[in-house]
Amino acid sequence: MNILITGAAGFLGFSISKSLLIKNHKIYGIDNLNNYYSSDYKNLRIKELKKFRHFKFFKIDISDFKKFNDVLKKIKIDIVIHLAAQAGVRYSVLKPQKYISSNITGFINMMEISKQKKIKKIFYASSSSVYGENSNYPWKETFKIKPISLYAKTKKFNEQLANFYSKKYKIQMVGLRFFTIFGEWGRPDMFLFKLFKSIINKKTLEINNYGKHLRDFTYIHDVTKIMLSLINKKFHQHQIFNICSSEPISLLKILSYFKGYSIKLKKIKRNKLDVMNTHGDNKRLKKLLKTIKFTDKNRAILNTFDWYKKNRINKFI
Ligand SMILES: NC(=O)c1ccc[n+]([C@@H]2O[C@H](COP(=O)([O-])OP(=O)(O)OC[C@H]3O[C@@H](n4cnc5c(N)ncnc54)[C@H](O)[C@@H]3O)[C@@H](O)[C@H]2O)c1
Repeated sequence: MNILITGAAGFLGFSISKSLLIKNHKIYGIDNLNNYYSSDYKNLRIKELKKFRHFKFFKIDISDFKKFNDVLKKIKIDIVIHLAAQAGVRYSVLKPQKYISSNITGFINMMEISKQKKIKKIFYASSSSVYGENSNYPWKETFKIKPISLYAKTKKFNEQLANFYSKKYKIQMVGLRFFTIFGEWGRPDMFLFKLFKSIINKKTLEINNYGKHLRDFTYIHDVTKIMLSLINKKFHQHQIFNICSSEPISLLKILSYFKGYSIKLKKIKRNKLDVMNTHGDNKRLKKLLKTIKFTDKNRAILNTFDWYKKNRINKFI
């Protein structure tokens, strides 16, 4: 298949592109390589993808309709996987405009171009953050959502737009509510890579909410397997799936996996923008895919740390 992946230089975009390239799909990747975190690191991911003959990359900002539209004019695309967005909950307080241009304008541009090109199936990234502070666990896709941060509100609006476009233009739209994804080539602004960095540099690690947060950590290899199965399914109009292992663990539990290492901790109180716990229900996904198994967390986290050390990622981030 010919697949357009926006945000291809990002963590999920890179990982999903690579797994599809291995299966011989042709990938058109788009990214503006912004500096929310190291663009050298993003370039390294693109260099890795360019090892595949059937990968083509365009450095483009999706909020620029003309440029976005121009590069895609002569390209045949079967499926879109839309992952480009300004991520991060706390950064949305500092740079709200980035969330509007990338997550709202960028999303509408992607929809309009897909509509013109008569693309019939679009996957897009939503987020577990749309559930907000709901203490009724596990969170089900049928729950009423109450996002707190601007980031989460842009994701809710994406879901509403997806609903509208799918009905009006008969497009299969699939919203993926990702829960804390981690693994090789992961994001330096997220907890695990901050932990790895503090271990290697022997620096103090600030740990929010005294490490008591529970997060529904989900391994990237499980996510790429899920995506490989999802692209072949048929969907009715707009459907939403929690993408999570449904086995939340606390940050303190993760620290216990690093027995031989001395970790200097500064335990700090909870940031109000962070939700207390995340725990998704994945029955809807399991019903559709039937055979998914999630990797053991302890092993997956230590594998990721080995990769981090071996590839000396520390120097980029
Ligand atoms: N990683 C997670 O745990 C997680 C959880 C929930 C939701 N998500 C969502 O999944 C998607 C991918 O997340 P990620 O972890 O790979 O984040 P990421 O920041 O690593 O990747 C996003 C990519 O999009 C690109 N981008 C941003 N704005 C752009 C623009 N205007 N034009 C072109 N490119 C642009 C960035 O340069 C980046 O490479 C995002 O939509 C994110 O909100 C991720």
